[in-house]
Amino acid sequence: MKPQTPAGLPAKAWETVCTYVQDEGLRRHILAVAAAMRWYATELGYDPDTWEAVGLLHDFDWEIHPNLNEHPTQGAPILRAAGWDEAIIRTILSHYTAGTGVERRDPIDFALLACDEITGLIIAVTLVRPSRDVREVALSSVRKKWKDSRFAGGVDRAHVAEVTEDFSQACFGGELALWTHIGNVLVAMQGAAATLDLDGRLA
Ligand SMILES: [Fe+2]
Ligand SMILES: [Fe+2]
Repeated sequence: MKPQTPAGLPAKAWETVCTYVQDEGLRRHILAVAAAMRWYATELGYDPDTWEAVGLLHDFDWEIHPNLNEHPTQGAPILRAAGWDEAIIRTILSHYTAGTGVERRDPIDFALLACDEITGLIIAVTLVRPSRDVREVALSSVRKKWKDSRFAGGVDRAHVAEVTEDFSQACFGGELALWTHIGNVLVAMQGAAATLDLDGRLA
C-alpha cells in the first residue's frame, strides 16, 4: 500500500505513517481517509496535497498511542518535532475534541471527521465480498450493511450521521445528504482501489 500522490506533502506524510504504523488494517484506514480527503479538497477547491496529508497523518500515532487518552494529543509533539505545519497539527487534534479540547473550525476539520469512520464500513463491506474489489461495491450494499448494526459494529452510525451533518452545514450550506456523502467517499475509495489493495488482489 502507498499513497495516491507519491510526491510532495503526501509522500512526506506517508514516510511518517510508515515509521509509526506497521498494521495493514490501520494503514488501509489511513489511506482510505486520505483518498476521501483528497476527493473533497478537489470538490471544494482546496489544496488536495494538504488535505491528503492530513488524512494520512490523522491516525499516525494510533499504534504507539492506542487509546484516546494519548491519541492524538501525544502525537502532536512528534509531528511538531518533525516540522509539520501547526495548521495541519491543529486539524488532526480537532478530530477528537473530547480529548484535545481543539474544536473543528475550518472546512478541512469538518471533512476529516466526516470521512474518518465511514471508511471503516466501506472497507468492511468490500472485504466480505469474494472479489475484495471496492470498485464492485454498490452504494446500496453499503446501505444494507449500515442497517445491520451487528456488521462492523465499531462504526457508530449515529456519530457518522452527526459529523456528516456538521460537515454539510460547514461546507455545503446544509445540502450534503448523508448518502450523498457516503457515495462520495465510496467513489474516492474506488478511485484509490489499487492504493488500498482493494482492487481484487486480496481475492
Ligand atoms: Fe483518530
Ligand atoms: Fe481515523
